[in-house]
Amino acid sequence: MGDETRLRVLGIAGSLREGSFNRALLRAAQELAPEGMEIRAFDIAPIPLYNGDVEARGDPEPVTALKAAIREADALLIATPEYNYGVPGVLKNAIDWASRPPDKTPLRGKPAAIMGASPGPHGTVRAQLQLRQTFVFTQTPALLAPEVLIARAHEKFDKEGGLTDEATRGYVRKLLEALRDWTLRLRGGA
Ligand SMILES: Cc1cc2nc3c(=O)[nH]c(=O)nc-3n(C[C@H](O)[C@H](O)[C@H](O)COP(=O)(O)O)c2cc1C
Repeated sequence: MGDETRLRVLGIAGSLREGSFNRALLRAAQELAPEGMEIRAFDIAPIPLYNGDVEARGDPEPVTALKAAIREADALLIATPEYNYGVPGVLKNAIDWASRPPDKTPLRGKPAAIMGASPGPHGTVRAQLQLRQTFVFTQTPALLAPEVLIARAHEKFDKEGGLTDEATRGYVRKLLEALRDWTLRLRGGA
């Protein structure tokens, strides 16, 4: 596979928890990535709360690092939990920083895929829809299908955070293949 089809994907999990299902999901995606795709996980824990006064003095270092990582990536892969039917604050906060200033945001035009895991029965569907809405404003073209909505996550991962459910591994694989095709299509290469 030539360099033109080598894809660098930036993975962001919207949970800071060590035992997070969504961080585990991102690790599973790293394992399941198709040939030629590399997924680098970006830790959003050091990103401070958005404050326009702080921004006016210059981006804090973790924000600069986040923006650079997004800019350098060919595509984004977000693993979001669902909090109160929405996107967790830590993830929305990171996206808010990355969205600034709106005319220069590295999120604009960046292909993205969304997935999520929850112990509940709906697999983060409401958080994912909310994230799509945010991506409308940032002009981040998020892949529409397949959806990866992992319900009853505690039955799909083992105690070490390994994704053991074969069907779910298949869904993640399909999502990554679709993200590859989507990214190449937006690049005009396929
Ligand atoms: C503040 C809060 C709100 C939550 N709200 C929801 C919710 O709306 N829907 C849902 O499916 N799970 C909800 N949960 C449960 C999370 O899905 C569960 O904690 C999950 O493990 C979080 O993702 P993580 O494992 O990646 O940290 C909530 C959890 C917290 C802490």
